[in-house]
Amino acid sequence: MNGCADPCREGFLSRLRDEFLVTRADARTIVGNFHQEMRRGLAGQPSSLRMLPTFARRPRGTERGRLLVLDLGGTNVRVGEAVLDGNGRAELTAVDRSVLPREIMSVSGAELFDFLAGCVDSFLRERGLDDRRRRDLAFTFSFPLEQSSLVSGRLVNWTKGFTVPGVVGKDVAALLRASLARRGRERIRVAALVNDTAGTLAAGSYADRACDLGVILGTGTNACYFEQAERIETCRAGGAAEEMIVNMEWGNFNRLRTNPWDELLDRTTSNAGRQRLEKMISGMYLGELVRLVIAKMMAAGLLPRGTNHAVFATPYALTAERLAAAVRSADPAVALGIDGAFPWDGEAVGRICSLVAARGARLAGAAIAAVISWRDGELETGHVVAIDGSLFEKFPGFRDNMREMLRELFGPRAAGITFRLVPDGSGIGAAVAAAVGPRTGWGAGPC
Ligand code: GLC
Repeated sequence: MNGCADPCREGFLSRLRDEFLVTRADARTIVGNFHQEMRRGLAGQPSSLRMLPTFARRPRGTERGRLLVLDLGGTNVRVGEAVLDGNGRAELTAVDRSVLPREIMSVSGAELFDFLAGCVDSFLRERGLDDRRRRDLAFTFSFPLEQSSLVSGRLVNWTKGFTVPGVVGKDVAALLRASLARRGRERIRVAALVNDTAGTLAAGSYADRACDLGVILGTGTNACYFEQAERIETCRAGGAAEEMIVNMEWGNFNRLRTNPWDELLDRTTSNAGRQRLEKMISGMYLGELVRLVIAKMMAAGLLPRGTNHAVFATPYALTAERLAAAVRSADPAVALGIDGAFPWDGEAVGRICSLVAARGARLAGAAIAAVISWRDGELETGHVVAIDGSLFEKFPGFRDNMREMLRELFGPRAAGITFRLVPDGSGIGAAVAAAVGPRTGWGAGPC
């Protein structure tokens, strides 16, 4: 390393710390901007928060049922059977989980839905459920949907690196039905079509009435909450004093301070200019941000190149899982595959990983604060936030940083906010939404 490396490196790292900082003042601005965008989105005005009506209602906790569940996430697909006991307890039994083959993100629409129908078909076959009976299926589809009812919705746009052609603008429940029919499974009825956040909220509130916010912190990030139906101007749901789940698509929120790394990352994505908050928080992008920083440092001689060049030369090769391992490790450089590094190199690498992840967690905390204060400005009641996703579940320190952000914004009142991990909530909640059923009188189009 040349003579300037240390001071240069300290200068680089301290600039990096400033670039990834989210101060309390920043967070307050984000909360205010969130409220403006929420208001606009609900009124059908241009907004980076889509505020999509889902036609899913608040469960009572007494709904019963046994339904098939198909859950398409950003990285996995799961098929299972959900059982609701009518007493606030719901579980996913007999689950088949598979990692989505990478190619599936860009195959044709028919191939994607045939693949999903194939997963349902093998699930039924393997369990001897091949009796061609009429069955209800709850379908979790973790992308933005413009819904016209609880059982139909058009894909608004792809996110999380998906580019499958011929699906945007189409009703994904109809595409699934067509693929199921091609497999001779036409007796399967789509009884609910829900976004994964809506599923998480439905599952959380089935178990606990105080739950009013559903959040996903995984490959992507998003949230939904219960809104007074009459405040949703973009659908015919007014009049009734009832609540509907609104899918915010907060990953697309864009009124925040980005840094040069965010700009660099955004430019090379298939959806440049969109999903800006998601690209700062979620599991798909955290590793990539760190990769960009480390590759730059290596090129500038501020870190040794090590021997594992492929990880730092290949976009998205550095995963959030790897980052988590580095944060946990006594030698973060080795954990990332930088062999031959000195201890202080390892320390620098560890600092970079923690910095980038902490910003993501603090932004997630600020976004949660925005939705809670929208519902309850003075925090008069307790709030339970149902959360699913590997980042929240497994990334070291992520939830502590989220909590810390809430404390900075709300002071002692933050203690009234509980985070509840709802594993498999996205799928279970789709079954809950189906069991609650549609409400007559709610429909697409402005009131
Ligand atoms: C992306 C999708 C959104 C989904 C989230 C979490 O942001 O657009 O619909 O809820 O990922 O999976």
